[in-house]
Amino acid sequence: MGKKTSKKIRLTTWLQVREAFRSKELRQAGYSEGAVVMSDTLLDLHGKAHRERRRIENRLFRREIFSYWEHEILGRTINVTLNPFIKSRKGDLSVIGYRCAMNLTATIAGIDQNPSEAKQTETLYAIVKKFSEGATLLHSTRNKDEVRSEVKEAMAQFAKDFYNPSREKRERLIQENNEGALSEEDLPKDVLTTLLRNRKQLGLTDEIIFREICFYLQAGAHSTANAFTHTVDDILNWGLRYPKDLDRARSDLSFVQRCMHESLRLNPASPVALRRPLKDVELSDGTLLSEGTEVTLDLMLANRDSDIFGEGSDQYNPYREVPEGIPRWGMSFGAGMHACVGAELDGGLEIDPERPESETLFGTVAIMAHALLSAGGRRDPNNLPEHDPNSERKHFSIYPVIF
Ligand code: HEM
Repeated sequence: MGKKTSKKIRLTTWLQVREAFRSKELRQAGYSEGAVVMSDTLLDLHGKAHRERRRIENRLFRREIFSYWEHEILGRTINVTLNPFIKSRKGDLSVIGYRCAMNLTATIAGIDQNPSEAKQTETLYAIVKKFSEGATLLHSTRNKDEVRSEVKEAMAQFAKDFYNPSREKRERLIQENNEGALSEEDLPKDVLTTLLRNRKQLGLTDEIIFREICFYLQAGAHSTANAFTHTVDDILNWGLRYPKDLDRARSDLSFVQRCMHESLRLNPASPVALRRPLKDVELSDGTLLSEGTEVTLDLMLANRDSDIFGEGSDQYNPYREVPEGIPRWGMSFGAGMHACVGAELDGGLEIDPERPESETLFGTVAIMAHALLSAGGRRDPNNLPEHDPNSERKHFSIYPVIF
């Protein structure tokens, strides 16, 4: 391929997107309009500042912590969220998904709220939705200043009703730990506690810690909820053609994990990532990314690249074989320096038949989907799902299920 230059460029093949994600000369872009909620967050940092923050936050996203999470927290939270729906024998897949995802993400971020208080979860979710609208301001067709002032309002409400009490509690616990009255083990294992304990080392102001928590809530909640809805929808659709596989999904968690990875490949939560080269970068195929150009990494197309995922790469097939070294979920968790910290938490460990069962992690989303299916969850034959007419992406506005 010959050399090309332009102010905007879109990368669409697997190899181009992977190389761009991995390049240290490409800086995260697209969040300056949404600075009100995104400025100085991990996703928006670059270079040394990013490396140092990431190293500290990574301590929380370790396998031992995931294992504690999967075995101690997850089941309880899913039960509390799902049980009222199972009891009433009906519900809506997207409501179940976001309530569950919101509760789980709040726990990881370090925001205290009671999963059995559905109204509180709804309030938090509405706030977090507003944060996301702020983060994606670049693409908004609304008046940007109007959105910014709504985001500020949501941040103030969040601070008063959720953040301040959670922070005060953690400050108290850290103090007790410093005085030797509380063991390390008994400190909360969450992002807020981690940042508060390392604020001096990282030079974090109160505002930065606050925005980082706002960012974590949106990074975790929507993508988890989205992945859950798609995983269940794809399994139910596949089950219409292969009823035995639907039965299998109701009892076999590792099969659900495999299905989740395939759904995630076809439905990345963020269909594109944006980057800006800090200097001219030439990709291996000769594509020139000139300094300052807006580079769009098209995950949707890279994940469907038939050179990598084979014939029928745009079709759902949970039995798909992928080449060695290629993740089943494609690039949906990103790659390189900003690769998702929640990837193993949500997607589990790569499927490996050699791994002993005691070391297996299936991931939050597969466990949520399996809980719903094993409780007998299925589509309500009298009320069909509906797509959100305001979204170009395949989002469901209504998805009635019965148990
Ligand atoms: C299925 C669920 C998820 C998907 C598809 C997803 C996807 C992604 C992607 C594509 C990126 C990279 C964006 C870029 O390079 O521009 C990313 C980064 C990130 N994700 Fe996730 N994510 C998911 C779940 C989570 C969860 C549960 C958490 C935390 C609780 C989380 C926290 C983060 C953070 C903190 C980053 C920024 C990392 C950095 O900049 O170094 N994500 N995620």
